[in-house]
Amino acid sequence: MDLLKEKIKKDGIVINEHVLKVDNFLNHQVDTKLMDSIGEEFANYFKDKNITKVVTIESSGIAPAYSVASKLNVPFVIFKKQSSAILDTETTIQTPVHSFTKNTDYILMASKKYLSENDNILIIDDFLANGQAAMGAYRILKEAGSSVAGVGIVIEKSFQDGRKKLEDLGLDVYSLARVSKISSNGIEFLD
Ligand code: G4P
Repeated sequence: MDLLKEKIKKDGIVINEHVLKVDNFLNHQVDTKLMDSIGEEFANYFKDKNITKVVTIESSGIAPAYSVASKLNVPFVIFKKQSSAILDTETTIQTPVHSFTKNTDYILMASKKYLSENDNILIIDDFLANGQAAMGAYRILKEAGSSVAGVGIVIEKSFQDGRKKLEDLGLDVYSLARVSKISSNGIEFLD
């Protein structure tokens, strides 16, 4: 998505060769016009997949998830991060997730109330690095009996192995910008 790549080139800040800061339009301040275009792009790609709900992981996935869900005219569900397990396994589904980027562990949690065997879910997230968050969401959806139609990612770091892990699960991964290299000389993209 050219508009997004231009925005990353213009406003992205290289923290180091692994991390790209995009606080200006995605992670802290949100560019609403860009989110509209992002939602349209995802909705267009997944429009024939009979999506019944969009799922995202708090917090930075919420803006793009809202945008695509509104274009597909379906609800979106936010999976929550907790520092420790809540023992309410009757009403919630929980799974542990390890973040390599932040070197933290959390429990990803969703209410059973909003997921069913009739749901065909699109997972949306802001970044794909090692794929741990998306795989956690996938585990929860499988436990709920829902189908997973695909994964939409705003920025994929293609030099990490998240895409491979998700594709190994048989998932269709659609990333709007695939970053192949982050360095002091700039940001490079795969086509
Ligand atoms: P993974 O799910 O693909 O394995 O990613 P990982 O755990 O390594 O990433 C953890 C957090 O770090 C996620 O945010 C992810 O969006 C973010 N992240 C990973 N790489 C980058 C990067 O290069 N730049 C930026 N800006 N963020 C990155 P989070 O903890 O879920 O935070 P938030 O959604 O509340 O913002």
